[in-house]
Amino acid sequence: MKKLLINSEFIEYDSAEELPLQQKELLEQAEQAAKSAYAPYSKFKVGAAVLLDNGKIITGSNQENASYPLGLCAERVALFAASAQNPGMKITGIAVTSSSENPASPCGACRQVMAEYESLHKNEMRILLKGASGKIIAADGVKNLLPLMFSGKDLI
Ligand code: THU
Repeated sequence: MKKLLINSEFIEYDSAEELPLQQKELLEQAEQAAKSAYAPYSKFKVGAAVLLDNGKIITGSNQENASYPLGLCAERVALFAASAQNPGMKITGIAVTSSSENPASPCGACRQVMAEYESLHKNEMRILLKGASGKIIAADGVKNLLPLMFSGKDLI
């Protein structure tokens, strides 16, 4: 018997000013996108902005439905739109903003979707999370948010 340990690494920024321009822009676009959230049931508005390898940014916001489970998170709206409109283009980053004070963490389903695109493009993405306080939590690679993700391959 042996114990196996998995570590996650996050970087905390006090404000977006500490980030390179392109990542600052990505966060701004996510914040803008949150305004288009359709969240009459939860009242929790989330915005996401996906950065592509060619510099293009695709945004999304959470879209809810009277039949609750049908709603979709901002991250998946943005990721699916990015991939549908730019098949084969590497995704290099995703910014997620929400109305909560502290940065909200993407749900498990959205993490698994990020994992799929990382695996498809053989490229880890920079994940930026920002709340109303302005503090930013960043991670390089979804492995930091979703250890033991499903891949259909070996567990470890
Ligand atoms: N939501 C997101 O958009 N992203 C997440 O990662 C978690 C939750 C949305 C779904 C729903 O519309 C609302 O936030 C409350 O759960």
